[in-house]
Amino acid sequence: MNITIKSPLDMHLHLRDEDMLKIVAPLSAETFCAGIIMPNLVPPITTIEAIKNYKQRIKDAIGDEEFEPLMTLFFKKDYTYEFLKEAKEHISAIKLYPSGATTNSDGGVSSMDIESLRETFEAMSELEIPLCVHGETNGFVMDREAEFGSIYEQFATSFPKLKIIMEHITTKNSVDLLDKHANLYATITVQHLFITLDDVAGGMLKPHLFCKPIAKRYEDREALLDVALSGHPKVMFGSDSAPHPTHKKECCGCAAGIFTAPIALAALTSLFDTNDALEHLQAFVSDNAQNIYDYRPLTKNIVLIKEPFTVRQSYADVVPMFAGETLPWSIK
Ligand code: NCD
Ligand code: ZN
Repeated sequence: MNITIKSPLDMHLHLRDEDMLKIVAPLSAETFCAGIIMPNLVPPITTIEAIKNYKQRIKDAIGDEEFEPLMTLFFKKDYTYEFLKEAKEHISAIKLYPSGATTNSDGGVSSMDIESLRETFEAMSELEIPLCVHGETNGFVMDREAEFGSIYEQFATSFPKLKIIMEHITTKNSVDLLDKHANLYATITVQHLFITLDDVAGGMLKPHLFCKPIAKRYEDREALLDVALSGHPKVMFGSDSAPHPTHKKECCGCAAGIFTAPIALAALTSLFDTNDALEHLQAFVSDNAQNIYDYRPLTKNIVLIKEPFTVRQSYADVVPMFAGETLPWSIK
């Protein structure tokens, strides 16, 4: 049995830089035709020069494979209208991180006070630049995303023309917001469709399953599965593939991030098949994102076949999700 996916898109992707970029970028380019590239490098991407240079380094790392890096800027509230107008030609979105919420987010926003963000959000609305948000407060770890819900609602109602993408949602609370506000959208990762906090910390601690936002409860995973498997038009796939070298994961003080780029498409196909939902896979991994971002990708067909795929233990110094396990579907 075969299935062909047309132009798969990864709408939230960390490609890093230097040696790590050279390891991971070709793996995304093998099975996806484009991806929204996260700007949380050290230092973060905040200038047009930095966008152009990073894009070129990504292209160099990918080589001949057809893959379009869709660039983003790291949100700063002091970007001027003139700057954003020029930046618009080079980016697909701007990513807002609350300061300290996750890996390399120290330069993020320290207050979500609407007035302090108004000018930038208004400029983005007018220029039609989507806002991607890492939506977590600094509250109790299991409540951070739900607490951010009221901030999402404030953003959505105060800036009705701003397209807001709730990144890597993990809770039923966030799912419920999708049908409440026309301008709220979401990405969902592979891991949050598969695991709950039990898989991370319910038994032996699994550092390679530790990410931000942390996996939540069973009812949250159910809510995510409902919208993903039904092809809900406001959700799209964003892997949040976030590679860290083994020594940063298997240590005291494990970095947040799960590396899924090389297994994402096979894992999603396996999941949709198990749930009799293969007919909605195309919407989840490409069509919805095309509509939400108003983006027409190049044509790239990826064929998956129902044959066992045993996931490698590592790619260079990075351990992927499902390392050593066997998935029922593989890339042909
Ligand atoms: C990401 C990373 O490592 O850059 N980590 C993560 O746990 N998801 C950052 C992010 O998207 O939060
Ligand atoms: Zn991320």
